[in-house]
Amino acid sequence: MNKAVILVGGPSRATRFRPLSMHLPQPLFPVGGKPIIWHQIKALSMVKDLKEIILIGFFEDFIFRPFLNRCQEEFPEIAFKYLREYSQLGTAGGFFHFRDQIVRGNPKNIFMLYTDICCSFPLNDLLAQHERHGRLGTIMVTKVDRSSAHLYGCVVVDNETKLAEHYVEKPETYVSDLASTGVFVFGQEIFRFMATALEKRVDEFESERAKESAYGRSEDSDEVEDVNRLRLEQDVLRQMAAEKKLSAFLCTGFWRQIKSAASAVPANALYLKKALGDNESFLAKTTGDGPEITGAVYIHPTAQIHPTAVIGPNVSIHARVVVGPGVRINDSIVLDNVNIKDNAAVLHAIVGWDSRIGKWGRVEGSQITSPDDIDEVTHLGVKVNSICILGEDVQVKDEVFIRNSIVLPHKEMSGNKHNEIIM
Ligand code: GTP
Repeated sequence: MNKAVILVGGPSRATRFRPLSMHLPQPLFPVGGKPIIWHQIKALSMVKDLKEIILIGFFEDFIFRPFLNRCQEEFPEIAFKYLREYSQLGTAGGFFHFRDQIVRGNPKNIFMLYTDICCSFPLNDLLAQHERHGRLGTIMVTKVDRSSAHLYGCVVVDNETKLAEHYVEKPETYVSDLASTGVFVFGQEIFRFMATALEKRVDEFESERAKESAYGRSEDSDEVEDVNRLRLEQDVLRQMAAEKKLSAFLCTGFWRQIKSAASAVPANALYLKKALGDNESFLAKTTGDGPEITGAVYIHPTAQIHPTAVIGPNVSIHARVVVGPGVRINDSIVLDNVNIKDNAAVLHAIVGWDSRIGKWGRVEGSQITSPDDIDEVTHLGVKVNSICILGEDVQVKDEVFIRNSIVLPHKEMSGNKHNEIIM
């Protein structure tokens, strides 16, 4: 049988996802009509013989309980568990710490998935290649633009043998255009390998401390925690590649990072387009007496959309949203309880929970054209915020135009704003 671990991080991790992570933990933020980690779970549910999914993070225990209860109902053949790290243990530290629980039941293959990604998740193909090559682990990689390779963990791969020959985290000079996707599969022996990596880290840590105390530096509590922090990339994958124990599998489907709040909009579009390609029944369609729908659109059953509104493409509209006559929405996420009044426009934007946009109001960002250019785009020769983001409970008055701006929660906007962060 097989198992999976999803690393969900904790409240201090998703700083780039603000202001949206101020209301909801990033892994539960909806893209394509579902929480980010639901997409990982859905893909894992289609892996042969996968029996358990464990979330590891340092959020409080109750945070994921309602979500996991819903997953349990939707995927009854899989067991779900949340394991909480006592402190931030890094991308391999929690995985290693909870090894006894992970190996319980003797899984043959253990998937590890990051949360902050959106992907077509070809997990069965990844598993098939991993089993064929029989190495200690397989990293899923994707081709990125050569000019942006320095932003990622890069892997040099032998095309024939699929051996990952080198792993370099965010290399200063070009080494490869194959980037780590944050999706891995390991055999159980990975824990022995990680134990050695941790011992090495403890040795390094102690010699650092010895040096520091020779220079009279005081101990601080952060450093004590730091010794158990194990980084998958630098401490484990790099060494696995050096010892020829890592394979690489090329993902030819879609992949993007979901780091900043703005990046939720292209992720939303990718998942909705995938749903359209898969002919999913939850997508909205134009009907005789309904609004005009173009492209891939998700509308929650409790939302009320005026028949003269025009919605799409790439739009998610969530629970209890009310959309008035003549409203235009495209490439946007509209969160629960938003009220959009007559003739308003929402384009390339995220509208936070309980917000209101007045009549003829306009909330507009710019189209993101390159995956490496997510937070800012160039407009008339100047860098501007790409997606326009309203935090929770923002009130945009009638006829007000908010363009390429980020508005923090609980603000009342009674004048036009362009390319500002409104605190
Ligand atoms: P950047 O270098 O900031 O771009 O990060 P990265 O792409 O290497 O990702 P990062 O290491 O920040 O996180 C990758 C995934 O691991 C995300 O899903 C995080 O939520 C998760 N993560 C990061 N650190 C920890 C940790 O200490 N514990 C747990 N459980 N998860 C973590």
